[in-house]
Amino acid sequence: MHLSEAEREQRARFGQSYRRNLLPVMLRIEKAVCGCNYGGTSWATRGEIDDVAEKRARRPGQRLLDLGAGSGWPGLYLAASSGCDITLVDLPAEGLVIAAARAKADRLAGVLSVAAADGRALPYGDKRFDAITHSDVLCCLPGKQAVLAECRRTVADKGRMIFSVISVAPDLSEIDRARAIETGPPYVASAIGYGEMFERTGWETVETVDLMAQFLKSATTFLEVDRENRADLAELLGEEDYEQRLQKDRDLIDAITRGILRRDLHCLRAG
Ligand SMILES: C[S@@+](CC[C@H](N)C(=O)[O-])C[C@H]1O[C@@H](n2cnc3c(N)ncnc32)[C@H](O)[C@@H]1O
Repeated sequence: MHLSEAEREQRARFGQSYRRNLLPVMLRIEKAVCGCNYGGTSWATRGEIDDVAEKRARRPGQRLLDLGAGSGWPGLYLAASSGCDITLVDLPAEGLVIAAARAKADRLAGVLSVAAADGRALPYGDKRFDAITHSDVLCCLPGKQAVLAECRRTVADKGRMIFSVISVAPDLSEIDRARAIETGPPYVASAIGYGEMFERTGWETVETVDLMAQFLKSATTFLEVDRENRADLAELLGEEDYEQRLQKDRDLIDAITRGILRRDLHCLRAG
């Protein structure tokens, strides 16, 4: 897999996060913000993922791909609640090792498969999955269209894909666009909109759910619990990085409140 220097650095950072997110203070924060304890790094809440499960009810024997699965959220949760087979794909091995251990402890009924691979070149044959999900993954990578095309190739006829993504709001002034890009995840910007990317890669939109209210609530809770856990976080991160983290929290709340950064859930079907 060919990754740029910046992507290799990001893979290392995510790998470190998955290890660190198992610490009690990080699990407390995740529980307060997202309502779960998988050591995740996305903004996907338990309520949001229950909604995903409802929109695309899964059952034993169905094959689900969670792309950019990190340490198993939300793929393992969806598999545990439905009994479907689950494939987890991500770049850093650290998260996948944690996910595999969690799957074993949870005694999943379905088949688990795990691969350290690039979403732009999935190591699977055509039409392998009945459904695909990902949580805030496309905003963390370049080559979004290549990933969408690979998902289209590997999903079965009439297959579905449901995913959340953070994006820069359209039609912003130059200053606001620059601010949104600075505040959002590393690859939040895209040259063309998601609707056009779906068309180009053979996906049809079934529904787009506006997640802004929950995004603001989650970001606000994140700042609150970061403050409540000051002592533990400052010890873990160092005083300077802790203060930077709080500033990032405030910047994010400001960007969401002003509507310059968006978060949406896209429900697509193979066209
Ligand atoms: C915001 S995290 C979400 C992780 C997990 N699903 C969760 O909810 O906690 C985004 C994930 O996308 C992964 N990712 C970034 N680029 C990728 C690529 N080219 N192929 C596969 N995964 C990628 C990252 O390694 C990271 O784990």
